[in-house]
Amino acid sequence: EKGGYDYFMLKEIAEQPKAVADTLLGRIDASGSLTLDEVRIPPNVLREVDKVVIVACGTAFHAGLIAKYAIEHWTRIPCEVELASEFRYRDPILDPQTLVIAISQSGETMDTLMALRHAREQGSKVLAICNTNGSTIPRESDAVLYTHAGPEVAVASTKAFLTQLVACYLVALYLGQVRGTKWGDEIRDVIRELSKIAGEVERVLETMEPVRELARGLAHKDTVLFLGRHVGYPVALEGALKLKELAYMHAEGFAAGELKHGPIALIEEDLPVVVVVPSPRGRSVLHDKIVSNIQEIRARGARTIVIAEEGDEAVVPYADHLISVPATPTLLQPLVATVPLQVFACELATARGNEVDQPRNLAKSVTVE
Ligand code: M6R
Repeated sequence: EKGGYDYFMLKEIAEQPKAVADTLLGRIDASGSLTLDEVRIPPNVLREVDKVVIVACGTAFHAGLIAKYAIEHWTRIPCEVELASEFRYRDPILDPQTLVIAISQSGETMDTLMALRHAREQGSKVLAICNTNGSTIPRESDAVLYTHAGPEVAVASTKAFLTQLVACYLVALYLGQVRGTKWGDEIRDVIRELSKIAGEVERVLETMEPVRELARGLAHKDTVLFLGRHVGYPVALEGALKLKELAYMHAEGFAAGELKHGPIALIEEDLPVVVVVPSPRGRSVLHDKIVSNIQEIRARGARTIVIAEEGDEAVVPYADHLISVPATPTLLQPLVATVPLQVFACELATARGNEVDQPRNLAKSVTVE
């Protein structure tokens, strides 16, 4: 059932182009309009929404962090993202105009379920983004948008994450559409790129051998740091989480802008630091800032592993290892930039002799609080 792969995780990483394509299927029509009729929350209710709150755990939380950038930028609705386990304990401000989005692969995560129950008690509408048909979270929500990743067996989430991102982008675009947001060139570009993105993920998968080789060479290390800005920041967090759970290594993700506020003190000779670089096109300020962050850490001895867009010449002089990913609109970059980090963590786990599909101390779905 592993389809010829040694681990479910490898199979699931390889299935990502299909998972992404399946999650998009039938949801964007030929004219570029979103057809999310399955989201049964009536358009007039969605037009009244004045705040979006996303609750999730682990990898699904990272998808939520990325969704915040898309929702706020495309719809101008304020969006908060919170760890489901923290949410209800701080008496959050919720009312019928709040749309709560609960993201969960399994649909059984107790923290997320308790958060959505709390939100519904306060009168908020809850939309679930879920991969498991008929599971508890969608059953208890007002509406559900299913991700079509297919069953995810490995404890470490991979294909579910990419499809959660796709679902979040679709929800953000749909909210914009029902609220009559003016569809500028940027959104048209995003919709066009989304329909090609499965092919781009496939292209990333075809170029992963150097990443595996790099991972094998780092198997003896104790620590790996991850840096990112903007949507690259949650990607850095996700890269670090994968490494913790699979390789049992000390791994931390930081917002690159925070370096000087503390983490730069950690940099020492030959410390591997993965940096997720945003596209040099568009928001080039972000790009330039992260290039100077790479220079700063390299000057202090870090071994830089740079994930950057193909053709990004500016990073080349400062990258000890360069991992190129296809050009995409900035907000979609996590769909391609996360894949090398999954492969990296999986290969490191294998090199360290760890059980890839069943890391120690972890369960696939956490059904206790
Ligand atoms: O089933 P869920 O998406 O609700 O699970 C949430 C987390 O437990 C899950 O993403 C966990 O962090 C993964 N093991 C990460 O790879």
